[in-house]
Amino acid sequence: MTKISIEVNKLKKVFGRRLIFKEVDFSLSESQSLIITGKNGSGKSTLVKILAGVLSNTSGSVRIKIDDKEIDNEKYFEIIGLVSPYLVLYDEFSAYENLELFARIRGVDVHKEKIESILNDVGLLDRKRDLYRTFSSGMKQRMKYASAILHEPSILFIDEPTSNLDRPGKEYVQNLVDRFRKDRILIIATNENEDFRFGDQIMNLDEYK
Ligand SMILES: Nc1ncnc2c1ncn2[C@@H]1O[C@H](COP(=O)(O)OP(=O)(O)OP(=O)(O)O)[C@@H](O)[C@H]1O
Ligand SMILES: [Mg+2]
Repeated sequence: MTKISIEVNKLKKVFGRRLIFKEVDFSLSESQSLIITGKNGSGKSTLVKILAGVLSNTSGSVRIKIDDKEIDNEKYFEIIGLVSPYLVLYDEFSAYENLELFARIRGVDVHKEKIESILNDVGLLDRKRDLYRTFSSGMKQRMKYASAILHEPSILFIDEPTSNLDRPGKEYVQNLVDRFRKDRILIIATNENEDFRFGDQIMNLDEYK
């Protein structure tokens, strides 16, 4: 089994003069999952972006290791997956083309069958040729899941996991979470009590001011 770890040390983020959080410390290894909660504006999305390597921190450190080898920040996209309200897919590309592009960016050799099977899992196979911009908000959320797991990431970050999803959509998320919790790391930001069961530890960002 692959050894995976994320170690966060004295992480701090300041926007201008506003302290968002400080002294965030935790470490997780494979088959551990963390729920990040806290009130609106407490910094959940900011923390997820920093952990996923798409936003810089003010001080402190984030270290990701695979089989004890530290991964460079520029290589994070190969081993992490991100579902987030801030994730942008291409409006003028179809569902299929968006996933094909994500696969290319990540340098993974993904075949038609794999893309179609993921589209099938998220219930969008029959819409694969339709442009992303024509999708409903729940369909867009489903597409974010498809793009996040295409390369079978070792660490999956999910900000607002069940946003805009119907019951079958939520069941898909539950199944995905169950699968990832077996041997990978899951980090989920949410304010929905119903989502708390997705994790085995909870961090409340209101306590890091
Ligand atoms: N680019 C930015 N520039 C300045 N301030 C920012 C920026 N991005 C976020 N903030 C501020 O950081 C704080 C945390 O925002 P963030 O989006 O991380 O909160 P959140 O916990 O995800 O909230 P929500 O529950 O509403 O999703 C807010 O005060 C927000 O205004
Ligand atoms: Mg947020």
